[in-house]
Amino acid sequence: MDAKFRIRRFNPERDQKPYWAEYTVKDVEGTDTVLDCLHRIKWEQDGTLTLRRSCAHGVCGSDAMRINGVNKLACKTLLQTLNLNRPIQVEPILGLKVIKDLVVDFEPFFEHYRAVMPYFVPNTPVPQDGRERRQSPEDRARFDDTTKCILCACCTTSCPSFWASGEYVGPAAIVNAHRFIFDSRDGATNERLNILAEPGGVWRCRTIFNCTPACPREIEVTRAIGEVKLAIQRGVR
Ligand code: SF4
Ligand code: F3S
Ligand code: FES
Repeated sequence: MDAKFRIRRFNPERDQKPYWAEYTVKDVEGTDTVLDCLHRIKWEQDGTLTLRRSCAHGVCGSDAMRINGVNKLACKTLLQTLNLNRPIQVEPILGLKVIKDLVVDFEPFFEHYRAVMPYFVPNTPVPQDGRERRQSPEDRARFDDTTKCILCACCTTSCPSFWASGEYVGPAAIVNAHRFIFDSRDGATNERLNILAEPGGVWRCRTIFNCTPACPREIEVTRAIGEVKLAIQRGVR
C-alpha cells in the first residue's frame, strides 16, 4: 500500500509564497505514523523538507501540525486512521509565523505561557520536619487533568479567537494557569486570576470548543477555561 502526501512548503529565503508539494511514500503499513512518512520523505526523497520533532512518542509536544485540516501530533497519527484513497494534506499549525515548511515560531505562544505564572508559589513556609507539603487526594484531583499538558500548541492554534488576535493568551496558557490556580498549596491564585481577567485573558474565549478535541492529551480544555472564568467571577477557586 502507498500513501500520497500533499505538503504545504515555504522557504521565506526563496519562495514568494507558500505552495503545495506532492510525494508518494511506498509500502506503508496502517500502523505507520504520519511522522514516519515525513521522515521517509525527508530522508529518501527531499532533504529540504523541514519539520520539528523529538520524542516520536507523543511526549515532547514538538510535532503539532494540521493533518487533513485538523491539529494533531504527527507521531500519534496512524495512517490507519486516515483515508489513504486521497492525499494526506499536511500544513503548519495556524496563527504563528511560519519559519520554514512545517516549522512555526513558538515564541509568541511561550510568551503567553510565561505571562500566567506557570510555576508553584508556595503558600506556606518550607516544612521543618523534612516532609513534603501535604495535600489530600481530593485536592490533588482538582487539577489533575491540567497537569497533563505537553505545550504542543494544538489547542491554541486551533482557536479562532487566537487567530483573530494574537493578544489572546490562548487555551494552553489558561490550562497551565489552571494547574496552579486550583492547587491548594499555591499562594498566587489572585495574581493569576487578575492576569487572566485582563483584556487578553479568558474573556476572549467564546466557548468555540475547537481546543478540546484538538488536545492530544485529552485534557478537557474548555472545561478548564470555564472553571477559571467562574473563579474570576466569584473571586475564589
Ligand atoms: Fe497541547 Fe493539550 Fe496542552 Fe493544549 S492543553 S498545549 S493541546 S497538551
Ligand atoms: Fe477558543 Fe477553545 Fe475558547 S477554541 S474560543 S479557547 S473554547
Ligand atoms: Fe514528541 Fe511527537 S515528536 S510529541
